[in-house]
Amino acid sequence: MKALVLEAVKKLRIQDYPINETVGPYDVKIAIKACGICGSDIHYYLEGAIGDFVVKEPMILGHEAAGIIVEKGEKVTGAALGDLVCMEPGIPAPFSPETLGGNYNLDPEVVFWATPPIHGCLRETVTHPARFCFKLPQGMTAAEGAMMEPLAIGIEAAKKGRITPGDTALVIGAGTIGTLAAVSASAGGCSRVFISDVKAEKLGIAGSYPNIIPINTGKTNLLDTIMQETGGRGVDLIIEASGSPKVYPDFFRCARRGGRVVLVGMMNGTVPLDVALLQGRGISIETIFRYTNAFDRAAALVSAGKIDIKRLISKTFAFDDAVAAYEYAAAGHPDVVKVMIELA
Ligand SMILES: NC(=O)c1ccc[n+]([C@@H]2O[C@H](COP(=O)([O-])OP(=O)(O)OC[C@H]3O[C@@H](n4cnc5c(N)ncnc54)[C@H](O)[C@@H]3O)[C@@H](O)[C@H]2O)c1
Ligand SMILES: [Zn+2]
Repeated sequence: MKALVLEAVKKLRIQDYPINETVGPYDVKIAIKACGICGSDIHYYLEGAIGDFVVKEPMILGHEAAGIIVEKGEKVTGAALGDLVCMEPGIPAPFSPETLGGNYNLDPEVVFWATPPIHGCLRETVTHPARFCFKLPQGMTAAEGAMMEPLAIGIEAAKKGRITPGDTALVIGAGTIGTLAAVSASAGGCSRVFISDVKAEKLGIAGSYPNIIPINTGKTNLLDTIMQETGGRGVDLIIEASGSPKVYPDFFRCARRGGRVVLVGMMNGTVPLDVALLQGRGISIETIFRYTNAFDRAAALVSAGKIDIKRLISKTFAFDDAVAAYEYAAAGHPDVVKVMIELA
């Protein structure tokens, strides 16, 4: 079938690629209709690796997708041919201690699209467990459905942040993930969500949402601004979504006493922590790794009008132009959030 294959670093080609997938009793086959380009896809494209995950064989890219069910296994219930679904890209082992313990995202055996050596889903069809496919509410498009994957990360961050209605939040980093964490925190009940970045264009997009207040830390001091805005108390919740080591350890000072911090941004290497400060202020730290049970919630929030996701799809390419789409995404235009590829 036609697929976008990463053959080597910076060598991408649409080709007819042999894929041998059988539809098991609990699987569905999906004709892919839209697939977003993620930061991780760009890392594999430009560098061929993320940490220990190294692309050694040709690999199909893409893990943020939606499509139409065209075949289903005999034991599948609650899904019909023709359903437009988005897919959760990681399949955990069903009986691992992590899955049984409720943290299926942490299963070390998870099979996750476009994470070497596993092929991604930027191809004509994929076969996937029906339980990891989520029917999109009426009116949602495939492109919006493909956005449920990054939105699921925002939802997970908000969930781990244990929001009480009326909380104030600060999200650090207004990239795709930070912006989606901010809209999730707002939809989750925060009264005001501050978002900081050093790029005005990113802040312009995030700040176009109601309730989200941009802070350009290239121009103003983050701690001073947060303290001014919160009567010297600090915010209830901080979501770190920049992945920049430079923000450590200072940003913790923006949390109020008893506040929570959720670490989303990833990095290589270590960062300093002011343990006494965290203890003295009773600040608790959570981390997230991907998500659990978040896709249907993400779609429900979009469908309910609580999150406008369309706004973040900056440019759409046809599948035949997928290489150009990757080059465009890799150029890192500051006013671009999500680059989407649509399949006929
Ligand atoms: N924990 C998880 O499961 C998970 C999942 C997906 C992504 N991530 C991580 O989330 C982070 C964000 O991902 P993304 O796709 O939005 O990346 P991105 O590069 O689009 O966004 C990062 C943003 O942080 C901003 N930034 C850089 N330095 C800053 C600073 N000092 N202060 C404020 N903002 C600053 C950048 O200008 C950029 O807008 C990455 O580290 C990524 O690896 C984590
Ligand atoms: Zn992604």
